[in-house]
Amino acid sequence: QSIVYHETIDSTNTMAQKLALNGAPEGTLVIADEQTAGRGRRGRNWFSPPHSGVWMSLILRPQLPVAHAAQITLVTAVAMARALTRLTGVEAGIKWPNDILFDKRKCCGILTEMHAEFDQVHHLVLGIGINVNVPQEQFPEELQSIATSLQGVKGVPIPRAEVVRAVMEELEPLYRRYVDGGGFASIREDWKRSNITLGRQIVAQTARGPITGEALDIDEFGVLLVRREDGETEKIYSADILF
Ligand code: BTN
Repeated sequence: QSIVYHETIDSTNTMAQKLALNGAPEGTLVIADEQTAGRGRRGRNWFSPPHSGVWMSLILRPQLPVAHAAQITLVTAVAMARALTRLTGVEAGIKWPNDILFDKRKCCGILTEMHAEFDQVHHLVLGIGINVNVPQEQFPEELQSIATSLQGVKGVPIPRAEVVRAVMEELEPLYRRYVDGGGFASIREDWKRSNITLGRQIVAQTARGPITGEALDIDEFGVLLVRREDGETEKIYSADILF
């Protein structure tokens, strides 16, 4: 596995996309100390100051139909929850689809980007952002009440190399199990165990507008099922979830 390190970069995801299009092999990991244009989901930016977090992107080349690609985000979320729980000694929870929270505060986000050819995945870039050693007062005003870092949870700083190692140790076997035949069925129960979304009243902010109801389950594709107040069940493919 090769690691591409940059002190400062616009976005590790953007760099990993370029490398992947140029043929970089599966397992190539792009890591930066600082991102000047870190990207979050839905066009948001991702706070990525120097010396503070793990900002990294992993190139994957699974042989998958496009319809299955979103499952990789959920597989990654399981690995992240395990790694962050192990590093802090405090239970981390998964908020569907891709946030890792401690209590109600987000510590880690995942941004999966895909290139497809016809109906097959060509490559995936799995972008992982973890707030590691960010003193709470250093988060910008708008993140104060919704963000936390591993240091904030554990009370002491954690070396970022240890964080990268723990993440890769958890991710690799789960990813192997997923691609080498187990599929999402072999991971769905693990996801459910770590999730903090199911069983709750939620508002799913989708591109079609908000959907309010109870988060019932995820299906075999990782799609969220929500029972609306009128009793109908909706499939949610992509949304921001509010509790
Ligand atoms: C989200 O929760 O909205 C996803 C955040 C993903 C952030 C990471 S940091 C490393 C990688 N490079 C980026 O530009 N974004 C992802």
